[in-house]
Amino acid sequence: MAKKSATKTADEKLLVGIDLGTSRSAISADNNKKKWVESYVGWPRDFIARKVVGAPVLFGAEAVTHRLSLDMYRPLKNGVIKEGTARDEEAVKELIRHLITLVQPSNSDTKVRAVVGVPAESFKVNKVALKKAVAEFAESLFVVSEPFAVAYGVGALDNAMVIDIGAGTVDFCIMHGTVPLEEDQRTVLTAGDYVDQQLFTFLKERYPAADFNLNMIRRFKEEHSFVGNVDKDVEVEIPVDGKSTVHDITEEVKRACESILPAMVESTLELIAKFDPEYQDAIRENIILAGGGSQIRGLAEYLEEAIGEYGPTKVRVVEDSLYGGADGALELAKEMPEEYWTEL
Ligand SMILES: Nc1ncnc2c1ncn2[C@@H]1O[C@H](COP(=O)(O)OP(=O)(O)OP(=O)(O)O)[C@@H](O)[C@H]1O
Ligand SMILES: [Mg+2]
Repeated sequence: MAKKSATKTADEKLLVGIDLGTSRSAISADNNKKKWVESYVGWPRDFIARKVVGAPVLFGAEAVTHRLSLDMYRPLKNGVIKEGTARDEEAVKELIRHLITLVQPSNSDTKVRAVVGVPAESFKVNKVALKKAVAEFAESLFVVSEPFAVAYGVGALDNAMVIDIGAGTVDFCIMHGTVPLEEDQRTVLTAGDYVDQQLFTFLKERYPAADFNLNMIRRFKEEHSFVGNVDKDVEVEIPVDGKSTVHDITEEVKRACESILPAMVESTLELIAKFDPEYQDAIRENIILAGGGSQIRGLAEYLEEAIGEYGPTKVRVVEDSLYGGADGALELAKEMPEEYWTEL
């Protein structure tokens, strides 16, 4: 038998899984390429800006660097493609175009089939906007909630619960052997961005002379986040009157990270309590944490203990918190029956 060529011919299809997030978006393709970008889209403000940045539109870290010259959009803020504002819809479209060109040259005429994972709330609100955004670059589309994509990726299709801790939202989803319904899912708005704001406020209170911004705060958090106890104090350098100075921020990091726990525990318990009583134990013993927030140290142990008061509980963290959603969406794209696709 002739060996299949590695490059795809025109009637072959490129399958992609896309995870559209508030802060980061990722793509995983069946040509083994994976890429991610911060979910920023920026257009030059005027012709000078256009000359300075040297491109009609910028994305991710590059857009952040040039933010003073750009009209910046973070189109999925709060988990919803903001409707009405044409620019937000346009920004989602550009973001998707950009993600696809990261895994496939833009001059390629290979047809694209995309499974797109979106935060659970925008799943309810904005399928139409999303369809419009994808139509130009893909010939078929399937939209899923992100926790479902994650669950699919780790094979947790039955008696499991996924908690996806993102920037804008924490999304919960119970898996019970079918495609999850709306009542199996829930969204809470206190997530990573909220932790950043809390930490910012706490540090302003304790160190009024320290000079920092939200970007620095997010970096501190991502490097040192924890709940419960740590064996080593958290110390960071923050300028005071222009002089780099060491600050102990252990208590503040802990309080900020722990500020999202009560709502998480409550939602988990409620969602499980609503479920068929015969399966509640099984679900409690198969809880999976995903998303950037799953990296908070001590989180799985904390939840295990808090939820454990209601019965035996097991909480684990996905292996790849960055690509878990995109990889799961790609798995779905590979295995999904034909009739599930929406032709565009
Ligand atoms: N080590 C870490 N500890 C704590 N938080 C982290 C860590 N790494 C990343 N994060 C946070 O995770 C969030 C990003 O996670 P993720 O990429 O899953 O979100 P998203 O998909 O963009 O958001 P959403 O799902 O709400 O749309 C950010 O708030 C980021 O600061
Ligand atoms: Mg996400």
